[in-house]
Amino acid sequence: MEEKLKLIWENFEKRVSDIQNVKDLNDLKSDILGKKSELNALLKAIGQASKEDRPKFGQMINEQRQKIQKKIADVQNELETRALNKKLKEETIDITLPGHKVNLGHSHVLSQTLSDVENIFISMGFQVVNGPEIETDYYNFEALNIPKDHPARDTQDTFYINDNLLLRTQTSPMQIHVMENQKPPIRIIAPGRVYRSDTVDATHSPIFHQVEGLVIDKNITMGNLKWTLQEFAKKLYGENTKIRLRPHHFQFTEPSCEIDVTCFKCQGKGCPMCKDEGFIEILGAGMVHPNVLRNCNIDPEVYSGFAFGLGLERLAMFKFNIDDMRLFYKNDTRFLSQF
Ligand code: PHE
Repeated sequence: MEEKLKLIWENFEKRVSDIQNVKDLNDLKSDILGKKSELNALLKAIGQASKEDRPKFGQMINEQRQKIQKKIADVQNELETRALNKKLKEETIDITLPGHKVNLGHSHVLSQTLSDVENIFISMGFQVVNGPEIETDYYNFEALNIPKDHPARDTQDTFYINDNLLLRTQTSPMQIHVMENQKPPIRIIAPGRVYRSDTVDATHSPIFHQVEGLVIDKNITMGNLKWTLQEFAKKLYGENTKIRLRPHHFQFTEPSCEIDVTCFKCQGKGCPMCKDEGFIEILGAGMVHPNVLRNCNIDPEVYSGFAFGLGLERLAMFKFNIDDMRLFYKNDTRFLSQF
């Protein structure tokens, strides 16, 4: 018995020393300890030994078995550690290498300006509404008291989809949409893109942005218009900003005016920026024309209101001293990152 166990052990030791991977180890395990192993055969043969020898043999076989199991477990551990170390070595990351810098973006300067404008009007109780950029002739012109063939259309040529559908030239059609859907009192601003068939230069672009404003209630006067826009100018450009109303003509407001603000470059003294005027124009405004109210089923004998429309690009150009409108759309980060 001792002789046989010794042979088994020697055979095992020889094989186990060559083992390179877990699969070979498992094969060896079933050869040495499995049902068909010599060790198992010995165990079965115990029955033929004498009664006194049986326990001793049993114990010897068991000890042998435990010894083999322990060795196999050790080898398995070693193989796993080796594999892990290999993997760690292959996948090492040099944490001292400089990383890739992630450049975080931020809002476009026009979005920032729009959000300033919105916040000022929201603080005065206005609601922000949005509407379609594709309009019918009716909303963009007709309902705003600009009939077909009226010369007021000449300055607002646009891109037509067909005879009736066009890209809006102004945000003023939003006045009509709001009055059709909302009963007075109304207090809204409507920002958005507008389109005109203009040639690109430093102050013109076929696509630009406007913010429309509309207030309708009983007893609204030019005084309300003036106060509201004076407050707006102060909040946007600073406490010392003054506004100036100049008579003007718009088909959908009567009376109409253009509003200028003190030139913030020269504080009103006169400079190249304001062409020595001391003031620069920022928006058009006026009292909503009775025809427009009637077109929306609002009785001009009961209600009155004012409207205004400002150009967002112009506002931002003055605020940040930008001399070329094209810079807004070029996506040049050297420009954009300055704001
Ligand atoms: N829609 C006019 C424009 O684009 C501006 C405006 C709006 C004037 C509201 C008066 C009232 O020039």
